[in-house]
Amino acid sequence: TSETEKYTIGFSQTGISDEWRKSMNQAMEIQAGFYPELELKILDSEDDIDNQLKDIEQLISEKIDILIVSPIKSKPITPIVEKAFKSGIPVLVVDRKTEGDNYTAFLGGDNYEVGTNAANYLASLTNENKRVIEIKGLAGSSPALERSLGFNDIINATKNLEVVKAIEGNWESYSIKDSLRDVLESIKDIDYIFVHNDRMALGAWEVVREKKLQDHIRIIGVDGLNGPNGGIQLVKEGKLLATILYPTGGDEAIQLALKILNGERVAKNNILSTTVIDSRNADIMNKQFDKIYQQQQDIDYQRIKIGKQEKRYTTQKQTLQLLLAL
Ligand code: FRU
Repeated sequence: TSETEKYTIGFSQTGISDEWRKSMNQAMEIQAGFYPELELKILDSEDDIDNQLKDIEQLISEKIDILIVSPIKSKPITPIVEKAFKSGIPVLVVDRKTEGDNYTAFLGGDNYEVGTNAANYLASLTNENKRVIEIKGLAGSSPALERSLGFNDIINATKNLEVVKAIEGNWESYSIKDSLRDVLESIKDIDYIFVHNDRMALGAWEVVREKKLQDHIRIIGVDGLNGPNGGIQLVKEGKLLATILYPTGGDEAIQLALKILNGERVAKNNILSTTVIDSRNADIMNKQFDKIYQQQQDIDYQRIKIGKQEKRYTTQKQTLQLLLAL
């Protein structure tokens, strides 16, 4: 019998309470399923930094062959990631970054570009003076920092646009509703709200509607997930003016991990591209993503069927051998 080497990929995920993370995990599981030599172990930190530290510690002690990690916040997770890396475990950082450069490779969307895309989109809409609120993701996480930088760099260079207020959230809808209520009561004549993700953007839309301002204030989100209450649907329903596509990179993460495991040289920075989704392309994006999803399901179904046939073939072969031995 020939034994191919087996690899265990340990993935420390921030949390799995939201659809973006679920879809990332699902893409990774489907992709890993194509390689019989791969075992994928995903630990869910429930968005708690102490849990994530323990999870990574556990993965290190289990002697995984590669660590994939999406750090909830950069700073507190950096030392343990460095420890893994320095102990010889290759480390692939995905979506959110650590500090410094003690890791093998990074893979994720360009969050600075997410911010500039959003601001350039607003700038392209009008030459009139417009007032903007920015609602940020979790402080200390790299996407929040970079989205804000990119957005403000363009807004500051655009004469007719002004950010009049920034609100801090934690990526979840509930975290921004009270502050936005207060802000909308004290500051009038807001035209746009740029929100760092679609879940908080939906929360912002709910507050805007509560205040009967939905005909005046237009909202831009980030993520552009397909499916119920995903950004693409929110654009189609007119709740969002636009969303910036932020790919999860689940498939790519597994492919990159495999290359690293096979000793291939990989780039340190692996950047996934982003794009604006608005009413002009939301429908086509929706149909394309549906189609890809359907094809993935078909492939998965075929894979399971082939697996079953292989099993049946092996038992038939064994029975035959037994009979012949009689
Ligand atoms: C998912 C999420 C996304 C956001 C990303 C940033 O957990 O909150 O909505 O784009 O994380 O890392």
